[in-house]
Amino acid sequence: MTQHSTESKAAPHADAARHARVLGTLRDALGASAVQGPGEFAGRRHADASRMPCADPIALVRPADTQQVALALKICHSLDQPVVTQGGLTGLSGGACLGEGEVALSLERMRGIEHIDTAAATMTVLAGTPLQTVQEAAHAAGLLFALDLGARGSATIGGNLATNAGGNRVIRYGMAREQVLDVEAVLADGQVIGGRHRMIKNNTGYDLRQLLIGSEGTLAVITRAVLRLHPRPAALCTAFCGLADCAAATTLLSRAQAALPAGVSAFEVMWPGYYDFVTTQMHGMRPPLPGSHGFYVLLESSAANAQRQAQDFEDFLGDMLQAGIIEDAAIAASQSDAAAFWAIRDAPGEYERYLPGRVSFDISFAISDISEAARRCQAALRAGWPQASILVYGHLGDGNIHIVVQEPGWSEASRAAVQATVFGITGEMNGSVSAEHGIGLKRKHVLGLTRTPAEIATMRAIKAALDPKGLLNRGKVFDYNAPG
Ligand code: LAC
Ligand code: ZN
Repeated sequence: MTQHSTESKAAPHADAARHARVLGTLRDALGASAVQGPGEFAGRRHADASRMPCADPIALVRPADTQQVALALKICHSLDQPVVTQGGLTGLSGGACLGEGEVALSLERMRGIEHIDTAAATMTVLAGTPLQTVQEAAHAAGLLFALDLGARGSATIGGNLATNAGGNRVIRYGMAREQVLDVEAVLADGQVIGGRHRMIKNNTGYDLRQLLIGSEGTLAVITRAVLRLHPRPAALCTAFCGLADCAAATTLLSRAQAALPAGVSAFEVMWPGYYDFVTTQMHGMRPPLPGSHGFYVLLESSAANAQRQAQDFEDFLGDMLQAGIIEDAAIAASQSDAAAFWAIRDAPGEYERYLPGRVSFDISFAISDISEAARRCQAALRAGWPQASILVYGHLGDGNIHIVVQEPGWSEASRAAVQATVFGITGEMNGSVSAEHGIGLKRKHVLGLTRTPAEIATMRAIKAALDPKGLLNRGKVFDYNAPG
C-alpha cells in the first residue's frame, strides 16, 4: 500500500510537544478564529471522497484572506511543518487526505465573487467559493462558467483548479485549466504570486498559472482566480440515444460535431452493463428508451437560437436513424426530461449505497482506441470475476472512460488483481491511468505507466524548486525527499 505517514519515529511526547508548538505559533499569529486544535474540531470530516486513509490534523487553519494564508505558510515553513490544503473534499484520489502530524489548511472562509466584468467576460473569485456559486453568478450576469461536474455543490473552485477538474462539458469548453486567465497563489515560503491579470494573451515567460493548475496542492496554495466566462447558450437540446455498439457512437460523435453548427456540449456514453444496472437496480431511475441496445449516448448541443437549433437537432437525429447509426432516440421535450436523462448519467453520485467496496477507474485513450480498450477491459474482468458488477461509462468525446467493478465481500487481493488487469491494459494501449481525477495518493503506484522516468524526474525538479522542503501536500502525486 502507499506509504502515507510522514511523521518521524520520534518518541510520542516529543511529537506532542512539537505539535503543540506548531499549533500555538499559528494561533498566536492568526488568532483563535482562524486556528483550531484537535479538541476543537470534533466530528469534522477531514478525508476526501476517495476512501483513502486519512489522519486527523494537528491543527486546522481556516484563514480569512490571502495574507493569513501567507502568514500560515511562512510559519509552517520556518517550523518544517507539512501542510495539506483542503477545499470541498470531493476529490476521488486522496489528494486532500492527511498523513500523521500534518496541518490542514481549509479555504472554506475565503469564498465569494469579487468582480464580474460582463464586457470582457471575466470573473474574479476567492478559491474557497463552491463551483455552483460560480456557475450561478455567471448565469445571473447573462454568461456561462463552463466547468461542470456532479460534485458542483460542494467542490470549490480552488480545488477544481488545483486538480484541473474535467467533467461533462470538456468536449466543448476544455478542462478547468482552459477556464482561467490568472491565479493568485501562495508559495511554500509564504510569498504571494499572480492574480492581477485579466487578459487572454500574456506571453511573458513561463506560464506559472498553468504550472500550478493540476499540481494537486504540491507546489502552492491557490487563493484567488480570474476566470474566463463564455456567452450563455440560449438553448440546450438533449437526446438519449440507443446504438448497436461503441463504434457506432464514435461515428455519431464525428457526425454530430460536423452537423450541429453550435457544436456538441456533452457526449456522455454508457455501456449496457452501466445502463442496465442504473435503470433496474438504482432507486428512482426510469429508462429513457423502451428497448435494450448495445450502447447508449447522452447527446447535448447548445446554441444561440433556440428554435432553429431544435429543428437542426431533430433533423440530425432523424438522419442518423435513417443512416442506421442510431437505433432509437428520445429527445427531451422539457427541462425535466433533460434532467431525467442526466440523472441516469449522474447516478455514480449514489454508488456508495449500491456498490460498497468497489474499485473505480478513470482512464483515457485516443478516441479511436476507446472501443477496443473498453472491450478488452470488460472481457478480462468478466473472465476473472464472472460474478462482479462491471459498469463502464464516461466522456467519449474526451477519450475518457470510467470503469467500476464490485463483487460483494471480495478480498483485498481480488481488488488488487482487478487493478492490475485494468491498469495493465491501459499501459499496453498507451492510455492515461488518470484522465480527470488526478493522481493524489490513490494512483501514485501507477504514475509510471503513463509518465516516463524523465518526465517524473522533471516534475521532481519543479517540486524541488518551488517547495524544496517538501512541505506542501507531502507524498501526493509522487514521493519527494527533501535534500539533506
Ligand atoms: C463521473 C465522475 C466521477 O464522470 O468523473 O461520473
Ligand atoms: Zn468523469
